[in-house]
Amino acid sequence: MNKKIILSGMRPTGKLHLGHWVGALSNWVSLQETYQCFFMIADWHALMSEYKNSSAIKENIFDNICDWLAYGIDPKKATIFIQSDVTEHLELYIILSALTPLGWLYRCPTFKEQINQLKDKEINTYAFLGYPILQAADILLYKADYVPVGEDQLPHLELTREIVRRFHNIYQKGIFKEPQPLLTPMPRLVGLDGRKMSKSYNNYIALDEEDNQIKTKILSMFTDPLRIRISDPGHPQDCNVYSYYCTFFDELKTDVYEKCITAKRGCVECKEILAKKIIEIISTKREKKKKFLKKKELVYDILNDGRKEAKRVASLTIKEVKEIIGFNYF
Ligand code: TRP
Ligand code: SF4
Repeated sequence: MNKKIILSGMRPTGKLHLGHWVGALSNWVSLQETYQCFFMIADWHALMSEYKNSSAIKENIFDNICDWLAYGIDPKKATIFIQSDVTEHLELYIILSALTPLGWLYRCPTFKEQINQLKDKEINTYAFLGYPILQAADILLYKADYVPVGEDQLPHLELTREIVRRFHNIYQKGIFKEPQPLLTPMPRLVGLDGRKMSKSYNNYIALDEEDNQIKTKILSMFTDPLRIRISDPGHPQDCNVYSYYCTFFDELKTDVYEKCITAKRGCVECKEILAKKIIEIISTKREKKKKFLKKKELVYDILNDGRKEAKRVASLTIKEVKEIIGFNYF
């Protein structure tokens, strides 16, 4: 068994929505078939932006894990664990912190962006500056070959590779691998209002949304602004509803396009059909999730097994690293 290794993580900052499915989870589900996968709940990373409301993280973890399981992450195929359960992450984090120049962190585009975007969260903190170092530690502890991420995370991957090179130059070559990003094949899903799909904009469809909510939300989507009367031909390329068809129902997109530009179908009907199709995707998974939510013991067992496996691998790396830097005291 010489499978390539994958690690990825999600921050438990709220409910998961279709954007997470398109941007990460669907990819994870297929990757677990061919790679040795570690899927992590990044609760320390969540703390860095949610420290004022840190008690909500616990609930989010359980909720998110139940979504993962319902949507097909399989604990028999992948290792599912919570970052803070494996204390080695913090050990490697401090070791890597020692050799990472401040300039690399200040220069990181995500740092500046987030500070400006999340003003109310007051993340102009020491820990938030070091966010990418902890992420590097996550990846390097498991010697991941690939890291499935969205484009926004590419600077963190680049920084991880720079840290690897610096570690190798200072101590010893060949300890870590330079991880490569695996960009998600699906395009980014925009929110119901055309902005980025996000909890803070309240423009999302949750992975466990109830049927009537899905319908209400989809019927409220904006369509082609130039299509005023039902007899006006539409411009699907300017319509967010059409982009949802393209993302989720490739097989329908030609028909939707054709009916739109020839004004054979009105926008309300077009949205009703979309809602019905999305409901088909979500409803069975939502019911599956409800079962996991009730089976707390089962979920805890899965997390416990995941912790053991993650810890087994992480502790080997930490032992090796401590030896190399001369911290093998006894
Ligand atoms: N920073 C990532 C995000 O916000 C989450 C994350 C934490 C992560 N550790 C990771 C992703 C390690 C990939 C690998 O999406
Ligand atoms: Fe958009 Fe459908 Fe209306 Fe065309 S018919 S503008 S694709 S909602």
